[in-house]
Amino acid sequence: MNSLPTPELTDGVIFLRPLAAEDAADHLAGEDEEMSKWVSGGRSTPATVEAFIRNSQENWRSGGPRRTFGVFDCASSRLVGFIEVNLARLVEPGQVNVSYGVFRQWRRQGLALRAIDLMDEYLRTATEARQIVVRIAPANTASLKLAEKAGFTFHGLFDEPEGRMVRYVRDIKT
Ligand SMILES: CC(C)(COP(=O)(O)OP(=O)(O)OC[C@H]1O[C@@H](n2cnc3c(N)ncnc32)[C@H](O)[C@@H]1OP(=O)(O)O)[C@@H](O)C(=O)NCCC(=O)NCCS
Repeated sequence: MNSLPTPELTDGVIFLRPLAAEDAADHLAGEDEEMSKWVSGGRSTPATVEAFIRNSQENWRSGGPRRTFGVFDCASSRLVGFIEVNLARLVEPGQVNVSYGVFRQWRRQGLALRAIDLMDEYLRTATEARQIVVRIAPANTASLKLAEKAGFTFHGLFDEPEGRMVRYVRDIKT
């Protein structure tokens, strides 16, 4: 089952589209210490990024649970980050886990907020999901603040395979 999103997800400032092989170099170049610490699980290499993109493409092609988008700047078409939903990681019925990162030089311009809203639109139109869950390390201040600014509410502290995580939730718009 091919689950590629149509039409393109955009708000006129950024657009989301599934990552392609040609995005690998930009994706790797965008990974700073925070990105590798909080989302990549360590330093990426050309080989790990290529494998990540191949796996993402396979999920899109087969209708798999991981739906990964590159986040692109509309004005320049440059890759500025990524956002991903894991439909399989259902914490409670209807809940889906979303994670994201914005490259350092593009931060504090509201792009993560925009990407979350476009992900909300994707989930509303293409899936049965009802609530977004973000799982954030307690020391990741930027991400905690972002969750609050994006209108998420505190859901609790949970012991996860990666360690203790704060969960925030936001209902998908109807
Ligand atoms: C967290 C992250 C995605 C935020 O992306 P961003 O595009 O800079 O976020 P936005 O510009 O949309 O920020 C929206 C709001 O979030 C809060 N915020 C974002 N970054 C912040 C920071 N470094 N310090 C304090 N508040 C911050 C602010 O309230 C901000 O609004 P403001 O700029 O008007 O004050 C980005 O810092 C990042 O990629 N970090 C590394 C990867 C990561 O931690 N991912 C999340 C894993 S759970």
